Amino acid sequence: MSDRANQLIGDILRRIHEAIVENDVTYEEYQAAKQWFIDVGEAGEWPLFGDVYIEHVVEEHSFANREGSQGTILGPFHLPDAPVLEAPFELPHRPDETGDKTVFRGRVTDADGNPLANANLDVWQADAEGRYSSFMPGPPEGNLRGQVRTDADGRYEVRTVIPGPYTIPLDGPTGKMTAAAEWSPWRPAHIHLIVSAEGHEPLVTQLFIDSSDYLDSDVASAVKPELIVHPEPTGDGGFAFTYDFALAPARTPAMA
Ligand code: BEZ
Ligand code: FE
Repeated sequence: MSDRANQLIGDILRRIHEAIVENDVTYEEYQAAKQWFIDVGEAGEWPLFGDVYIEHVVEEHSFANREGSQGTILGPFHLPDAPVLEAPFELPHRPDETGDKTVFRGRVTDADGNPLANANLDVWQADAEGRYSSFMPGPPEGNLRGQVRTDADGRYEVRTVIPGPYTIPLDGPTGKMTAAAEWSPWRPAHIHLIVSAEGHEPLVTQLFIDSSDYLDSDVASAVKPELIVHPEPTGDGGFAFTYDFALAPARTPAMA
């Protein structure tokens, strides 16, 4: 076993053992926990569980001193290879897509404010009812998923609808555990992005809608004040907001 595995696995197990002793965990509770581990595996919910309850600490710790814009968790609903959109940069959607239309635009720069041309913004989001295409019944494959590129001045634009908040699945083991602890299962309304440009650290982030419920009680603990956006009415029934992204330089590859 490597030193790293020895240290990390040993430390995690020691902390579980301490929690058992400090909380007087019973044999019945241990057996129930074992069954719950089995249920999470059978339901295919380990990625969900990890992204809800663990990923935010890895993200916060890994990027604590990063220059540029704030990131947050990736979550389990990203799909690679969404189509690259041309003007007017509208995320693919149903003809009768519900929800308030919104456009958001801004610039992608390096950490010193220099524009990054041809940066890529990979965007995905839930629909107005809080459903992700390919993961939840309702929206067709590819709905509200697309990529846009910045122009020579680092500017981008995306047209979409304002997403709705959503709960993690309530009927699976992660949702049941959340209910047993009497925690809120909701995520506030948000738009996911991965912003990338050559020579820079990709930024995995989310933009949270200021009018959404649950900003203070996100089950995934992923909200950061810097990531809350303020869509303003545009007078034609729609909304608009701006958001600029600053990317840190790529991390130097570790020496072999
Ligand atoms: C999401 O942002 O889509 C998400 C994150 C963590 C768990 C579930 C969903
Ligand atoms: Fe999400």
